[in-house]
Amino acid sequence: MEIIFATHNLHKTEEVRSILGPDYRIKNLPELGCPDIPETADTLKGNALQKAQYVADRYGRNCFADDTGLEIEALDGRPGVYSARYAGEGCSYQDNVLKVLKEMEGIANRKACFKTVIALILNGQRYFFEVRVDGIILPEQRGVDGFGYDPVFLPDGYNQTFAEMDGATKNSISHRGRAMRQLKDFLLEYPRP
Ligand code: IMP
Repeated sequence: MEIIFATHNLHKTEEVRSILGPDYRIKNLPELGCPDIPETADTLKGNALQKAQYVADRYGRNCFADDTGLEIEALDGRPGVYSARYAGEGCSYQDNVLKVLKEMEGIANRKACFKTVIALILNGQRYFFEVRVDGIILPEQRGVDGFGYDPVFLPDGYNQTFAEMDGATKNSISHRGRAMRQLKDFLLEYPRP
């Protein structure tokens, strides 16, 4: 089955290819010749659906898209849907992490979670997969692997941050890894023509 993954991110494309395996031919947006798709919704689910629907409408293809955010309880759920650009347009991962650490200074409640939503449009039907991983925001950065907020996120039940774990360990527990495995389980059960 060929299916479009509505992303320009090569790293995510490879990750999904390795999770879904060779039965699924995954094409990303550059391979489809599709430009950047706007993400203007105010929820993760809305953004994921916006991207998948764009591909389904323009190209008439089966497609899925994901959106992820870090929600911090003491910050009323911020950065949430704005996780990628929390410190402003064009900011770096490090700018975002430093902004979060500053806002969390002196705050005792460190609870946070990563949430990933995948929207799938298959033969015109919409399906959603949502996974959250709970943890806490550390007062300082630990580890050099991964990306984004990994150095300050300590998942519940572990003593390594996402940035201290090797990629395979992080994928086995992370929001995106688990959401992609839910997608795989769904596709495996889906009747083939
Ligand atoms: P996206 O929807 O996967 O592009 O994620 C939006 C933003 O959330 C990214 O730019 C990162 O800042 C953050 N993020 C997403 N996934 C992760 C993760 O696994 N670790 C750390 N930060 C992440």
